[in-house]
Order: sequence, then C-alpha cells, then structure tokens
Amino acid sequence: MTNLELLKEAEKARLKAYTPYSHFQVGAVLETRDGKLYYGANIENASYGATNCAERTAFFKAINEGEREFSRIAIAGGPEGSRPDSTCAPCGICRQVMREFCQPEEFMIILSDGKNGVIEKSLEELLPLSFGPENLK
Ligand code: THU
Repeated sequence: MTNLELLKEAEKARLKAYTPYSHFQVGAVLETRDGKLYYGANIENASYGATNCAERTAFFKAINEGEREFSRIAIAGGPEGSRPDSTCAPCGICRQVMREFCQPEEFMIILSDGKNGVIEKSLEELLPLSFGPENLK
C-alpha cells in the first residue's frame, strides 16, 4: 500500500472519532511489519485530560493484540464536517508512545501535506534525542 493509500485509510479511521468537546476529529492507521492494519480515532472525555488521541488508540489496540513490530502510521485530522486535508502532526505524548515500540530511524509517520500529497517523517525526525526503553537497562 502506498503512503497516500494509507492516509486514505486514516480518513476512514477518523469516522469513528468521539469528539463532543473539541469537534476536532483524528484518525490513525498503524501498520505492523507484516502488513496488518490497526485503526484508531480520538476518544474524548468530559474530564478533558482523559482524552485518548487517535494514534494511541491505534497503538494500544495493536499492542493489546500482541503486536510488537511496526513500520508506519498515517494520521488524518481536522475539524468535524470538513475533509482532513491540512497537516495534523502527532502530539508529544503520542510520539513518546511510538518511541516505546518503534525503531526511531525506521518507523515512518505519514501526514497530509495540506494539498493532495503526503509528508513522510521518521520518528527520529519528530522526536530527536529521545528517552526510551534502552535507557532503563
Ligand atoms: N488529537 C489526536 O487525536 N491526535 C493528534 O495528533 C492531535 C490531537 C486529538 C485530541 C483531541 O481529541 C483533539 O484532537 C483536539 O486536541
């Protein structure tokens, strides 16, 4: 699947967003190294801090199914009622969750470029000089 196709899947994942507060809907599709896809959307909460981002929903679903090896994640976000065609980059907490399970130089993050194309960044580019599991060994 191309990066653009994966981004279209993230738009489908976004349809499941639960966003009664921000009305900002995000979808993420996480691909395992063997090509399986896990879909996630953001899930908000009346206690705002309990909100779960789309990226973490996808990760936690996959981790809980026993997956541990990932290659890419595509993210599509934007206000409810409009196409998610601007760039929606992952928040800091989600980048750190990715860091727990992914190789920073190898794991790729796919975003809309705000037109009809994609931006591809490695986790290393989005979270340089990071703290990870090896630091606790
Ligand atoms: N959000 C995500 O799900 N992922 C991101 O990458 C950025 C922000 C969600 C959290 C909240 O439900 C809404 O977008 C507004 O912050």
